[in-house]
Amino acid sequence: MALVGDAFALVVQNIAIIIAGLVIAFTATTVSQSTILAPDSTKARDSTTSIFKIHDRKPNIDSSRDECLTLPTIAKDIELQHVSFRYATRPNVEIFKDLGLSIPSGKTISVVGESCGRKSMIVSLIKRFYDPLSGQLTLDEIEIKNFKLSWLRQQIGLVSQEQILFNETIRENIEYGK
Ligand SMILES: Nc1ncnc2c1ncn2[C@@H]1O[C@H](COP(=O)(O)OP(=O)(O)OP(=O)(O)O)[C@@H](O)[C@H]1O
Ligand SMILES: [Mg+2]
Repeated sequence: MALVGDAFALVVQNIAIIIAGLVIAFTATTVSQSTILAPDSTKARDSTTSIFKIHDRKPNIDSSRDECLTLPTIAKDIELQHVSFRYATRPNVEIFKDLGLSIPSGKTISVVGESCGRKSMIVSLIKRFYDPLSGQLTLDEIEIKNFKLSWLRQQIGLVSQEQILFNETIRENIEYGK
């Protein structure tokens, strides 16, 4: 009986050793994996923080403001007077200084200039992707900052030089843009 009892104790002891070995191996694997993942989790934390910062930022040009002006009809005279502008990211480069431009309703105009000559920037100001630092930009003699942004942008059809097309027909792409 004592022999059976000893054998049983030995089996239990061996099982305990095997379990302990498995636990150590599992723990070691987990620790080594978490060490490998540590840089990624730091990156993920940093990225999340910067996403929340962007999300919480209050933009100067707020497309969600609803209380602004819309007009039932517009003649679409566009006027830029004494407009100056610099990108916030390139404050040392003057993009416009005292720019004046008149685009009367019904007229077609061409803006011609060298590459990077700031032609597209004029459109960006009219669409209010940016606001001038000084000067006036008016639509039918009303400062465009007074218009509801979504309404203002709906008045303008823009086909820009760098197109992104969805994998649909041209018509569907245009309809989607509306
Ligand atoms: N978001 C931005 N931040 C900083 N600089 C910018 C930004 N967008 C454009 N620029 C710079 O502003 C300048 C004017 O660019 P813009 O695209 O208006 O010129 P363009 O006359 O339309 O040129 P192209 O003939 O190549 O279309 C360029 O030097 C351009 O690199
Ligand atoms: Mg351009």
